[in-house]
Amino acid sequence: MMKKLPAPVPARQVLWLGWKLVILLSVALCFVALLRLHFSPDLSSPNSLSRPARVRSRISGGTFDGIPKIAFLFLARFNLPLDFLWGSFFENADVANFSIYIHSAPGFVFDESTTRSLFFYDRQLTNSIQVIWGESSMIEAERLLLESALEDPANQRFVLLSDSCVPLYNFSYIYRYLMSSSRSFVDSFLDAKDGRYHPKMSPVIPKEKWRKGSQWISLLRSHAEVIVDDEVVLPVFKKFCKRRPPMDTGKGKLNIVKTSKAAQLY
Ligand SMILES: *[C@@H]1O[C@H](CO)[C@@H](O)[C@H](O)[C@H]1NC(C)=O
Ligand SMILES: *[C@@H]1O[C@H](CO)[C@@H](O)[C@H](O)[C@H]1NC(C)=O
Repeated sequence: MMKKLPAPVPARQVLWLGWKLVILLSVALCFVALLRLHFSPDLSSPNSLSRPARVRSRISGGTFDGIPKIAFLFLARFNLPLDFLWGSFFENADVANFSIYIHSAPGFVFDESTTRSLFFYDRQLTNSIQVIWGESSMIEAERLLLESALEDPANQRFVLLSDSCVPLYNFSYIYRYLMSSSRSFVDSFLDAKDGRYHPKMSPVIPKEKWRKGSQWISLLRSHAEVIVDDEVVLPVFKKFCKRRPPMDTGKGKLNIVKTSKAAQLY
């Protein structure tokens, strides 16, 4: 689903490595959040009053008996280069069955000058943040998307998409598939070569729970709420989720060797 960047330019390798890191961290966040949902149902973290949307999402919880919607959540750098493809995808949908949210660069507006598909007009978040590739701001941007989408009680499935994702099936197939499943879809695997776990993340994120996977996931409403309401896992990521380890000046050239070796793994 994601575009592979052409290989050998070192700057791009670093960028790609950053992307991989973001994917890893996002999934680890989701995974830990899901685990918390299953194993500690009475999260006692106080509900911050500075985030009114959370309170609204709580109130709207429970069963919804209208037509359920899929919320398509696009995390974009600027525009959506594949808008024409998604446009024809949504043309075969019922407008009552889906909603669209886009997190793009702050101030970037989707209108006739920036997109070829009117499905995307004005669908950008107004509170989007500057995302630094490979850092926890990526997770925060995803949380903003989920938080906005939770404000509509009709949204019952939440699909996170990159600006290079393409639909492989038609709308009605995807709608039926996601709606008939009572599970979220999250990619997760153990990467034996992974050396990015920071011991200080423990005990909030224990080493044996550390996983890698794609951040492009599909969530049930209850799981989206867990991620948006989380005040335990994200702060740990904010602290330890950096684009790459800080340079150890004592090691000199060894830093560079380490970086390029890591990049080769991808
Ligand atoms: C959507 O795709 C499914 C499976 O590929 C197919 O059976 C169905 O006819 C398609 N529906 C429409 C409306 O094109
Ligand atoms: C829209 O939702 C309704 C009710 O859930 C469903 O019957 C219908 O097939 C959906 N339309 C499409 C195009 O998937």
